[in-house]
Amino acid sequence: MIHLNFNPFPVLTTERLVLREMSMDDTEPYFIIRADEEMNKYIPNPRPKNHEETQAIIERMMSYARDNKSVAWTIADKETNQMLGSMCLWTMQGNDDGWEVGYAILTEHQNKGLMSEALQATVKYGFEVMNLPMIHAYTHKDNASSRHMLEKNGFARNTILEATQSEIEDMKEEMQYMVIYTLQRV
Ligand SMILES: CC(C)(COP(=O)(O)OP(=O)(O)OC[C@H]1O[C@@H](n2cnc3c(N)ncnc32)[C@H](O)[C@@H]1OP(=O)(O)O)[C@@H](O)C(=O)NCCC(=O)NCCS
Repeated sequence: MIHLNFNPFPVLTTERLVLREMSMDDTEPYFIIRADEEMNKYIPNPRPKNHEETQAIIERMMSYARDNKSVAWTIADKETNQMLGSMCLWTMQGNDDGWEVGYAILTEHQNKGLMSEALQATVKYGFEVMNLPMIHAYTHKDNASSRHMLEKNGFARNTILEATQSEIEDMKEEMQYMVIYTLQRV
């Protein structure tokens, strides 16, 4: 049985980072994270056009956690509390074994091992606190950095789930260019 309770909000800390609740103070960096062309070249999500639309997304993310539906963190610098990136654990399918991670970090902070650090804390929370049996990551097949980051953190390509998802009408188009990685709880 999985455990869905994000109240109080689950703050996670690592050596260099704090994963904390999003706030409206994150609007500017989060707008870049969600809207920047280069950062989002492998991400099919709709992009906010301005700060107002970005704040609507932040509010939605915060409400999902308040309602114990899913959780999105601001990945912040532990010293300054400034937003460097974002992380979420959510499920589209609603079943216990369908939970996914989604993540992004500002270009100037990439390739320093920061997302690996954030991912390890998220996975630990997902397995030990939420009791998830497994965690998936959907990523574009050409997103070499994301794929490498997942692999170095123990995620393995899940071609069985890819085949299943490709059969679903709504997923067919997306699955032509997405790959799925999975980490099982041990
Ligand atoms: C994918 C992403 C989150 C990785 O974050 P990060 O903090 O740079 O990750 P890490 O530093 O922990 O690991 C990145 C690894 O990819 C490697 N890498 C970077 N570019 C690469 C490339 N073109 N090909 C292969 N490996 C690459 C890095 O060298 C590093 O591996 P190493 O530690 O063995 O040297 C970051 O690039 C990002 O936010 N991208 C834009 C948003 C995005 O695509 N999110 C994923 C959506 S599914």
